[in-house]
This record gives sequence, C-alpha cells and structure tokens, in this order.
Amino acid sequence: MTKSCVLIGAGDRGNRYADYALEHPDRLKIAAVAEPRPDRREAFARKHGLGPGQVFEDWAELLGKPLLAEGAIVATQDQFHVQPALAALKSGYQVLLEKPMATSEADCLALVALARETGGSLSVCHVLRYTDFFKTVKGLIDSGTLGELYSIFHAENVSYHHMAHSYVRGNWGNSAASSPMILAKCCHDLDLIQWFAGNSAQRIASFGNLGRFRPDQAPKGAPARCTDGCPAAASCIYEATGTYLHGLHMKRAIGRSNDLPLALAARAMLALPRLAARLPGLGRHDVWKEWPTTAIAENLSPEGILKALREGPYGRCVYRCDNDQVDHQETIIEFEGGLTATLRMQGHSYDEGRSLRIEGSKATLRGSFGSHGALELLDKESGGHRRFKVKSQVFGHAEGDSGIMDRFVEVLNGRAADPSEALASHLLAFAADRARTEHRVVEL
Ligand SMILES: NC(=O)c1ccc[n+]([C@@H]2O[C@H](COP(=O)([O-])OP(=O)(O)OC[C@H]3O[C@@H](n4cnc5c(N)ncnc54)[C@H](O)[C@@H]3O)[C@@H](O)[C@H]2O)c1
Repeated sequence: MTKSCVLIGAGDRGNRYADYALEHPDRLKIAAVAEPRPDRREAFARKHGLGPGQVFEDWAELLGKPLLAEGAIVATQDQFHVQPALAALKSGYQVLLEKPMATSEADCLALVALARETGGSLSVCHVLRYTDFFKTVKGLIDSGTLGELYSIFHAENVSYHHMAHSYVRGNWGNSAASSPMILAKCCHDLDLIQWFAGNSAQRIASFGNLGRFRPDQAPKGAPARCTDGCPAAASCIYEATGTYLHGLHMKRAIGRSNDLPLALAARAMLALPRLAARLPGLGRHDVWKEWPTTAIAENLSPEGILKALREGPYGRCVYRCDNDQVDHQETIIEFEGGLTATLRMQGHSYDEGRSLRIEGSKATLRGSFGSHGALELLDKESGGHRRFKVKSQVFGHAEGDSGIMDRFVEVLNGRAADPSEALASHLLAFAADRARTEHRVVEL
C-alpha cells in the first residue's frame, strides 16, 4: 500500500528524499511540505502536485494540523533538527531525521528518549550504510571472511574545494553556529566504524587543528573577497569565480573519475572551453549550474552567480572567514574486546572520498569509495586476492539516498527502527570533540 509523508525543509537534501516519491509513486507520496523560502516552497509544491492545505511556511504550522501522513522527513539545517523532530514524534509521525540528529549530546538523548516514550520510530539518515560499497564491507565482516578483527583504519578525505565551500565559507564553517567538524562531517564515518566493530567503544582520543584557513596564511595583499581583485587569484586553488562560475574543480574531479564518458566530457570542457561552449550538451556547462553553485545562488546566470560572490559568504577569501573548524583530525578508538580503530578526517585532499583498511586474522580488506572506487580482499591463507566491482562516485552517496528511503518506507509499513545505533555514533563524536579540546583520553 502507498504510504505518505510530509517534508520539513525543502532544501537540497529534502528534495532528494522527496524525489523518491516521484520515482516510486506506488510506495510513497508526499502529503505536505513546510518551507519558509517561497521559491523553494512553490517549486516543491509544483513538483509534487500539492495544493492549498498542504503547503506551509513553517514546520510548527504544519505539525499544528491534525496528522497529515504516516511519516515526516526532517531535513532542515543541523541546528533546526531537534524542535521539529520532537514535535513530529509527539504528533505521532514516524520520523526520518537528517544527520546529525542534534548538535548537543543532551538533545540527541532527548530525541531518543521521546521516541522510546511515545513508541514512535526515529530513523537517522546514515545513508552510507545503504551503499553497495559499505554493505559489501559489512557483509564480509559478518560472514567471517576477515576472521577476528584487530584494526580498522578509515579516512574521510574531504577535497580542498569541498572543505573551502562547506567548512570554511559555508554553513558548517563555524562550529558554534553549526556543530563540531567531527559531528558535522564524520558522524557517518563514526557510524560505519561502530557498525563494523559490532561492539561498544571503550575509550577515545583525538587530535586536530585548523592549519590552513587562517588570516596568517593569506597571500600578501589578498582582499576580503576574491571579486575585489586579488593579486593571488591566478594561483589560488580556492579562487571563487573559477570554483562557482566555471565549476573548475568539479570539472577536474569528474575528469579524473573512472566514469569514462563523463570524464572525457569534463576533460574536453577544461582543455577546449571555447569549442566546448559551442557544442550542444557541453555548452550548457560553460557556466556551472550544478553543486556547489546551486548552493550559493538561486539565479544561476553569470550575473546571478557573480552577485552572490560579491554579496554573499561564498565570495569571501578563505583565509578571512569566520571559520574555526579543524581542517585535519585523527581520532583513535578502542572497542570492547580490543579492536582498535583510527578515523582520519582531512580537508586537503586532491580527490574527495573515503578510504579504509581493515585487518583481520584471515584477511586484509582495503578499499576506496569515491571517484576511483576500489575494494580488494587479500586472503592470508590462500595468498590470493579478490577485487570487487565498485562504482565510481565523484560526489554524493551513490545509492545510499534511495536505500535509506527504501528502509523508511519499510518502517512506515511496520518495520522497527531503533535509533540507539545512531545515538552511539553521535555520542562518539561528542566524546572525540571533548578528547581533542580537553587534550585527554575520554572513557566511555
Ligand atoms: N545524510 C547526509 O549524507 C547529508 C548530506 C548533506 C547534508 N546533510 C544534512 O542535511 C540537512 C539539510 O542540508 P541541506 O543541504 O539540504 O540544507 P538546505 O539549507 O538546502 O535545506 C534546509 C531547508 O530547511 C528550510 N527551513 C528553515 N527553517 C525552516 C522551518 N522553520 N520550517 C521548515 N523548513 C525550514 C530552509 O529554508 C532550507 O530550504 C543538514 O542538517 C545537513 O547537515 C546530510
């Protein structure tokens, strides 16, 4: 039977989840939306055929109505997760909540407590668990193929331009206004490590700092904005016009991926921009109209993008922002039973992607999930190795977004959803942040 849900926050993530209803109208329909931005609200209402009584400016208005559907997706920004999620649970909705669940430990605990108290379900968008790559890793661990696990190394390699966009100039640049980097960027990674370990974490240590994006690292004479005539513009890898107007770094990243048709198109745009601009298919990408540009301007004409760079946060020199997030951090965890794990987050990567190496008594598993996807099992007994087919993924979560929606529909159909695992990874993130800022090992 088709289930229904409401959407709170029709931004980038909310639209991705709601698109599932358009792709699978037999499984899910969107019953209402709450979104304060008129452009987004109207576009969403048109897309999902919503009429009067189904479109609201604010989550409180929507949740103040009698139950409009079985489920509620909460996809507002980090600091606005708790209130709508608590209200939706109280109203009787089954909730799918974006990560991080909340930006404080107390709020995470309050959410889980209310879900238990009301008997409502609370699922958190740890979408990577639903990708083929990480499902394969988990399957190999659970089947005993690796033997006893001793060591996990997992790296979250954030590309230099993604770091600058999201964690310096953008929404998550300031930890007090958003949440600490280890929560904002790495709660997925801590969730995966915890899932692979299958045991409770006992103690945690963490080291990290902000090395690059500071005023003392700025090139001589760099003004406050890239659009103000910066003397270092030609050599600066963070220069805003190249990043947002021309999509330079995205084109380069796609050009390096192992998706050959896409890679060739991106290389042609970079090598012969004038010719490519005149070719049907390629010409429309001369001015970049994909992420990250879609996140900075509604008007994606050259004038609209340049206006956003001159007036908004994304045209700022990366060395002169109000950011304080670490740009590299190492976290070490010891689990019950002795397994140790290291999580590396670094925001200086040439390519975006996660990489891992897991050591077990029988085999080593190593792989990368990104633009050069690879997963390889090295068997110590036979001396052989087995490669798994892994799709290339320049940005995004592969099939993770649709996977979590499949699961949410199952929950709407009666499957249980236990938020305690998501809670565990969030508690690990808060503990890691304490360990780093207080220079100590935190016992859990
Ligand atoms: N699961 C993942 O892998 C993943 C990836 C990226 C981002 N995220 C998380 O998803 C969340 C949303 O990110 P995004 O990039 O879509 O942000 P976004 O800013 O594009 O979308 C958030 C939307 O919420 C709306 N909103 C604000 N106040 C509201 C209110 N009172 N009622 C209803 N809507 C309101 C905003 O207007 C905006 O359109 C963030 O918490 C982010 O950390 C998760």
